[in-house]
Amino acid sequence: MAEVKFFGSADMPLEMHKVRIIQKLNLLPIDERLKAISEAGNNTFLLKNREVFLDMLTDSGTNAMSDRQLAAMMTADDSYAGSETFYRLEAKIREVFDTKYYLPAHQGRACENILAQTLITKPGMIVPMNYHFTTAKAHISRFGAEIAEIVGDEGLEAKSSNPFKGNLDPEKLNALIKERKEDIAFVRIEAGTNLIGGQPVSMANFKEISAICRREGLILVVDASLLADNLYFIKTREEEYKDVPISDIMREIGSLSDIIYFSARKLGCARGGGICLHRDDLMERIRELIPLYEGFLTYGGMSVREMEALTVGLDETLDMDMIAQAPQFIKHMVDELSALDIPVVTPAGGLGCHLNAGEFLDHLPQNKYPSGALATALYIVSGIRGMERGTLSEQRNPDGTEPLAHMELLRLALPRRVFTLSQIKYAIDRINWLYQNRRLIGGLNFVEEPRILRFFFGRLKPDSDWQIKLTEKFKEDFGESL
Ligand code: F0G
Repeated sequence: MAEVKFFGSADMPLEMHKVRIIQKLNLLPIDERLKAISEAGNNTFLLKNREVFLDMLTDSGTNAMSDRQLAAMMTADDSYAGSETFYRLEAKIREVFDTKYYLPAHQGRACENILAQTLITKPGMIVPMNYHFTTAKAHISRFGAEIAEIVGDEGLEAKSSNPFKGNLDPEKLNALIKERKEDIAFVRIEAGTNLIGGQPVSMANFKEISAICRREGLILVVDASLLADNLYFIKTREEEYKDVPISDIMREIGSLSDIIYFSARKLGCARGGGICLHRDDLMERIRELIPLYEGFLTYGGMSVREMEALTVGLDETLDMDMIAQAPQFIKHMVDELSALDIPVVTPAGGLGCHLNAGEFLDHLPQNKYPSGALATALYIVSGIRGMERGTLSEQRNPDGTEPLAHMELLRLALPRRVFTLSQIKYAIDRINWLYQNRRLIGGLNFVEEPRILRFFFGRLKPDSDWQIKLTEKFKEDFGESL
């Protein structure tokens, strides 16, 4: 992003694009918001978009596309097999990751299904990783393996000054190799570690973990779904890389990995995904499952239009103006909230601003789902939809006990190029009001609890009439204001 200094005010993020297509938003009155969240089972996933003002649920499939992407969609070559669109995308992936093969899949979790199924070859295996993502863990568990989360200790501290809290701890990996090398199915590094606040992995760490994997003959899988933000942080936080072009950084990550997979709903601002790899033997094993689950090898479940958009989107990922926008907006939000003493995850990461719900609502125990409760409270007072990333997002153990999350977070995602700075300022204002009134917020209890990925469909209810009291206080303070 261009370095622009301001004369009469503190520096702030400056958009290096202009808005050319808009979508009208709805901000319902607070009574309707209260009703909507109740009907949605106090689960923000179950709100209808027409009930939402700022949709900060996720950046997945919701990033703004560029004029170049939209134009490319019109050139799509629609055929079941051998489409030109595929070859354009394959060539772009070869160029950006320096990998030999590209196997298309309809989204990130489809890649996780295929990789877990192929690489988990016997019962009792283990997959070491910096940190899990919900769908990655669900697929790995489904094929009988367990995960080992070996992020560096600071990764799990909400407040820190460590610029690379997503780093996988090499000591812990070496210890695990010593103990259980034969059981390791693969090692997984997640770029821009989602569940611990979008925290990046340094290139030094990619190199170190790759060297260990090569030495031990272990397969290194990189989840590149959140790589765009991670590239920005390598370039801006790792001295050695400040003058290295993004294209070189991306190719270096490609060369350090055996397999890279990604959700194009995040990386490339389109919808789709795929698995990129170097080795012939792995390609042959993995390839068999693509037509079975995804589609023929030249579309993998994606529409050709989205594939064209992805080709351009990957190209635009090499542009600092493009990849800096979300991290700079997130940093602005994190800095402003921190200045108000509101607990947020620091340093600012990618993906979104993460409120530390554990500290925000330190009067609630984790089994009252503070992150989920905060998500409903924020929706009620602002129409902003965030995503619970805490104990609700965990899955019960096979014996029925409930694991408590390492961190209780409310994620406010900033899809790329979607929101304006005044909308971010509105979000900050409402969060500030909520923080001043935080003691009014109570807990949630499950009414319906699905067995797998319960956060998607689960329904809950407040443990008292606290949402009504919160609404009354809002009306007292804001009068007729929406
Ligand atoms: N890996 C990471 C790091 C992700 O963040 C996601 C999705 C996936 C894999 C799965 O990809 O959705 O295309 O199947 N994250 C979304 C989110 C859902 O909201 O954070 P997918």
